[in-house]
Amino acid sequence: MASAHDIRKRFVEFFTARGHTHVPSSSLVPRNDPTLLFVNAGMNQFKDVFTGREQRPYTRAVTVQRCVRAGGKHNDLDNVGFTPRHHTLFEMLGNFSFGDYFKADAIRWGWEFLTGEVGLPADRLVVTVFDGTGEAADADDEAAEMWREFLPASRIYRCSAKDNFWAMGDTGPCGPCSEIHLFKGDVAPPDAGIAGRGPAFEDNAYVELWNLVFMQYEKHPDGTMSKLPKPSIDTGSGLERVAAAVEKVGSNYETDLLIPMVECARALAGSRRPLDRGEAPLRVIADHARATAFLVADGVFPDKGGRNYVLRRIMRRAIRHGTEIGLDRPFFHEVCAKVVENFSDVYPELAERAATIDEVVRGEEESFRRTLDRGLRRVQVAVGEHDRAAGTAFSPAVAADLYDTYGFPLDLTAVIVAEHGLSLDEAAAEKALKERQAAGEGNTNLGEERAVADLYFALHGELGDTTFVGYDSTEADAVVRALVVDGRAVDEAPDGAEVELVLDRTPMYGESGGQVGDTGTITAAGVTVEVTDTHKPRGAMHVHRGRLSGGTLRKGDAVHVAVDTARRDAIRRNHSATHLLHHALRKHLGDHVLQKGSLVTPDRLRFDFSHNRPITPEQRREIEATVAQMVLANAAADVRQQSMDEAKARRAIGLFEAKYGETVRVVQFGASIELCGGTHVGRTGDIGLLAIVSEASIAQGVRRIEAVTGMGALAHLQGLVELVDGTRTQLHAHTVEDVPVKIERLQHDLKAQQREVARLQQELATGGGGGASDITEVAGIKVQVRRVASPDAKALRAAADALRDKLGSGIVVLGAEADGKAMLLVAVTKDLEARVPAGKLIAVLAPHVDGKGGGRPELAQAGGPNVAGLDAALAAATGAIASLAG
Ligand code: SER
Repeated sequence: MASAHDIRKRFVEFFTARGHTHVPSSSLVPRNDPTLLFVNAGMNQFKDVFTGREQRPYTRAVTVQRCVRAGGKHNDLDNVGFTPRHHTLFEMLGNFSFGDYFKADAIRWGWEFLTGEVGLPADRLVVTVFDGTGEAADADDEAAEMWREFLPASRIYRCSAKDNFWAMGDTGPCGPCSEIHLFKGDVAPPDAGIAGRGPAFEDNAYVELWNLVFMQYEKHPDGTMSKLPKPSIDTGSGLERVAAAVEKVGSNYETDLLIPMVECARALAGSRRPLDRGEAPLRVIADHARATAFLVADGVFPDKGGRNYVLRRIMRRAIRHGTEIGLDRPFFHEVCAKVVENFSDVYPELAERAATIDEVVRGEEESFRRTLDRGLRRVQVAVGEHDRAAGTAFSPAVAADLYDTYGFPLDLTAVIVAEHGLSLDEAAAEKALKERQAAGEGNTNLGEERAVADLYFALHGELGDTTFVGYDSTEADAVVRALVVDGRAVDEAPDGAEVELVLDRTPMYGESGGQVGDTGTITAAGVTVEVTDTHKPRGAMHVHRGRLSGGTLRKGDAVHVAVDTARRDAIRRNHSATHLLHHALRKHLGDHVLQKGSLVTPDRLRFDFSHNRPITPEQRREIEATVAQMVLANAAADVRQQSMDEAKARRAIGLFEAKYGETVRVVQFGASIELCGGTHVGRTGDIGLLAIVSEASIAQGVRRIEAVTGMGALAHLQGLVELVDGTRTQLHAHTVEDVPVKIERLQHDLKAQQREVARLQQELATGGGGGASDITEVAGIKVQVRRVASPDAKALRAAADALRDKLGSGIVVLGAEADGKAMLLVAVTKDLEARVPAGKLIAVLAPHVDGKGGGRPELAQAGGPNVAGLDAALAAATGAIASLAG
């Protein structure tokens, strides 16, 4: 019987043999399509080909497309794992015709593949066609007629647009469709004439295997439909379902597509798995691991918002199901590794990104487990405190508090309270959260700050944005449009005033996008403002701050503005270097690296990015080397204003979501392409050199690199060289290369000396002066009592062992002082354990040092603060032995 991997292969071969071009699956992240969260059908990548906006060198295509249907309104994540057929990710087999063949071939090939190629029983298949209701299109009698070649009329059902008219979304290509279903009931499918029964109504008896869409229309935003240039074909068949049908198993989870992950989860859980949980948690984990591995491979990173958040929810759901079956250590990355192992043949991007997948999944699981631990206890307390007499609605305010204080996600609170028979109105909780946060913010905005903000707000309303001319020049003539002194708008500013200036145009960059503001001078006849900062408090209105000298400055005065170019150059070097660094980080650590923040000053740059573990010395070397290569390539800056679509097509990186629809500034240096409004070097060679100064974690999953460029990099490296050379001199090493050798030798010598000291101490304790003179006999037992010098309890024990061995048969009692405390130790040879148990003896001696002691019959120890009582304790030993042995 064919395995699922076999079916996939045969599908592609079947259609390539019929003139189709095999087109690889596209990424799960839709390109240039803001209407879509994830790629959810094989036809997505051909949307513009159907409408005639894009030409391809082929008119027939076959694909196996990875699809995610999760997070949308119709895809309830809660079902996945609990039904035989729901998934977050699935593989869609599809054949496509772009104005080439139409219904007849699509129907024939669909039938032939299922009944001939993979051998499904023809008498168990039924089909549906469009009945002409629910959309402005005709009933598809033509398709019904064509099906008659393969099936009796009784197995051809007619359904409304709800089931048999397919559209990609509110807009885009669409058309009537025909579905092939497998009847799974006990008897043959019912004959025609049994009204109201059929695949559209009986979900459990029928499973839809294949949807053949006869694409003929395009829907427009205004709701109208126009005809496509040519009738086309889009078909889609879920591989998991076909495999379950061919393999004759009841659930997709029993096919070889999902078994490896289910079994992996089962093995990890082992015997800890409570039996009453059934298979569902294993299936949730298996399904979600598959979606997670594929999504991360396509560059989706678990995080807040949009598709990142959908991934986070999927991962967290799987991890929670893991904890329910006893998987209380990070396990999910291991299941994801199974996905990589099983699917890389077909989807090589999985193997290419295996390390990133491992990294991202581990990091998310570790952080989520911390959140869980903290929050879970609180949620349970809150559930316990819930007053059930008042109903089952869990308080949205408490849920908001759990989120705000413990970072416990609202959706998770909802799931947990549901398990206790309560419900949470998530929208109400969101609202409560917003109100809390707004209340918190309100407090910080009061008073003076608000007055200043109001002033800027008014000024911006009056003057609008400042024209920025600083990309092309560092000097400009301008006119004073506003003056602010002591937080108030004034018409003239006196000599010596701390002033804020708004001009009609300026070459000075206002702090934004992590780049600090410019400094420089603003001059008019005899008057100078030394500008110490430029910022943009509202919109793109530039406000220059500085001290006025040489006279009075008035609104309307003509001025000359000059940027401090040496400082600006240093800033430009550092800003361009962050772009190269960003590129190098993604190249060496993975595409999960996203910029989380940055600071670009003349002295150094700071770059915060998503990544879960420290950078190894080797990675650091590679990152610096990649940046150095880009610097040496001396690429010219290519800066363009482009539409968002053009920027995306160039695979530019940056904050796309925030600015969708606007024109964006795209800055390219060789392979680095970023959306950016900052000022940059003309060529990468201007950067000179980049040196990473430090690398550290600043928050969960976020790391910070600090680096220097140009002369700063040289100074940093020279500093390190001087440090090493100073060390060399201190160590009396001839060359720098000798330094590690010298250090190793010193460490070696130090260890040898420490060992020698320990040996001498033991010798002092056990042998030397005492000889046999301190051995006495009590009740026929040889007793050796001695005060020794031992540095710690371990050394004391070693000494006691040695003395006991020498004694053959007897009792050793030792006392020592260490770190200002008294230590006592009693060792008894085996033959005497019963007569004088060490533990009993030490209990008698310990009170002399104000301590307590205990231990086994052959060895017991005590410690106490009273060092002065040590000799008394030792003196009491013989008497105590006499009475115990008596
Ligand atoms: N686009 C159709 C579907 O997703 C057929 O591939 O069902």
